[in-house]
Amino acid sequence: MCGIIGYIGKNVKKNLIEGLERLEYRGYDSAGMVIQYNNNFIVRKTVGSVDNLKENVKDIEFDGVGIAHTRWATHGKISLENCHPHFSFKNEICLVHNGIIENFEKLKEKLVKKGIKFYGETDSEVVAKILGENLSLKKIKKLFSLLEGSFSIVSISKNKKELFFAKYKSPLYIAFKEKSMMVASDPSCFFGKFNKYLTIDDGEYGKISLNGIEVYNQDSQMVEKKVSKIKTKELADDKNKFKYYMLKEINESKSIIDNIIERYKQSQLIFRLKSLNIKNFNRIYLVGCGTAYHAGLVGQMYFKEMLEKDIFVCKASEFIFEKNILDNKSLCFFISQSGETADTITALKFAKNRGAKTIAIVNAEYSTITRIADDFFPICAGLEKAVASTKAYLAQCIIFYILAKSFKNEDFISNLITFKGKLSLGNNSLIKRLASYLSYKDKVFFIGRGIDYITSLEAALKLKEITYIYAFAECSGELKHGTLALIEKEIPVIVVATDKKTFAKVLNNAYEVKARGGKLILITSIAINKEIKDNFDFIIKIRRCDEKFLPIQSIIILQKLAYFTAVKMGLNPDMPRNLAKSVTVE
Ligand code: F6R
Repeated sequence: MCGIIGYIGKNVKKNLIEGLERLEYRGYDSAGMVIQYNNNFIVRKTVGSVDNLKENVKDIEFDGVGIAHTRWATHGKISLENCHPHFSFKNEICLVHNGIIENFEKLKEKLVKKGIKFYGETDSEVVAKILGENLSLKKIKKLFSLLEGSFSIVSISKNKKELFFAKYKSPLYIAFKEKSMMVASDPSCFFGKFNKYLTIDDGEYGKISLNGIEVYNQDSQMVEKKVSKIKTKELADDKNKFKYYMLKEINESKSIIDNIIERYKQSQLIFRLKSLNIKNFNRIYLVGCGTAYHAGLVGQMYFKEMLEKDIFVCKASEFIFEKNILDNKSLCFFISQSGETADTITALKFAKNRGAKTIAIVNAEYSTITRIADDFFPICAGLEKAVASTKAYLAQCIIFYILAKSFKNEDFISNLITFKGKLSLGNNSLIKRLASYLSYKDKVFFIGRGIDYITSLEAALKLKEITYIYAFAECSGELKHGTLALIEKEIPVIVVATDKKTFAKVLNNAYEVKARGGKLILITSIAINKEIKDNFDFIIKIRRCDEKFLPIQSIIILQKLAYFTAVKMGLNPDMPRNLAKSVTVE
């Protein structure tokens, strides 16, 4: 993870800070910056968020060249010593790094034997020490043969107005205009500043100065790069009236459905949907991590109803270790909001190498996953900034609905329009009351059957990641096979029950909880009588809609429940501890 950025031009500090603010979703354990000034380095490092760094750089106002970093700790504790940029032995050069150097211990051992002193514990510092005191293209190229793992690196020296870079597996992009250049982990840094950018590919390295950008491949040949236009609409990220991005993003649900409808009406996407000839495949795999994995589970439900095929959902981090049958009869969907998740990228390459047809379901259309996969379907959710994924989940589920419908040659647009009309963002005061009650609890259970179990899984993930409450989801029918032992007096159990087919059975399971003193909370779209009502301590009614969309309707309410609980607990839901938005390490 981590976000890296380098800049040459006017107002170097301002541009680096604004870039870091946009990269902060990649980690906020520490932030650091180095600006070259008078053949020397001005160094500022802080533990914690970019806001802390901002305070620390108030006095700097120069034009020139600089690099900056926002860290998600992998190797070494969260401390100033481990905060980037890292320096060469004699402090002549410094660098920022995103990725993991897997052989850093061996390399460090050799350097220590040569008398090189280290200040911190990171793998990245090893790269700075390897580069030594004089930056050159030759030295940058050498990194590819020395380093194992993943890296994107930007480095500067004390006395030249140049940025050197190298990329292997971790993302890197360069934007340019006449008198300024920026290199960064994510094109969102370029928003409002640049119109054009280049995507650096694995194995490429080079040099940026105000005279131009030089990109080389592993044969030391200069590479002609394709120039892409920055899509301002996709990268806009203002919070509007919202205090936190997470609530803003949940509230965008309806407009995302509009975006999807608009985009999937277009001939280009209709053509791509049609070319995915499902008859050619025996097996379908849906692969992702975390929330994206849960979207895969919803996708599996849609596909199972429409197709007579074997459909598997896999966690990307497990995919390459499982004995999956992967050949040209396998159709694999890789689901990723960021399009940069390392586990998903590894799984994608693995499937591709075995001849499977690979399709990315992504939000970030310029991402690595989009580029590697044979084809991609955009989820059209717009930039998602809060670490906890909300609107992207909704959009991923809808794209699977569209795919399932198009496999059957059925219309999906009219159903989506009707659903959008019915979609409710819930009754905030009711959700807040429940959130207030949960904010005093340290454990919460979610139960449901079938599709409601999938919603429970996603709801529990949302609650635990932003409130740190121990949240656990279980199929309600499974409780009696073990988990019921954990039910004690006053423990909140949220019963997700939107499916008429399973409702009676879920109720029985809920009553088994009640008999053991648990507090029952019902989330349902089904009409209930007084007898049922009396058995529950709290009820939230979900607006009825086409049953296919109920998991989407119910997750919005549960996302909000997690959000309001975090806010009630005084936590920042956008930046949960220990996590980052883009998980670029395995
Ligand atoms: C949870 C969450 C994560 C991501 C996961 C995959 O709220 O956001 O579980 O879903 O890290 O990320 P992407 O979708 O970017 O591959």
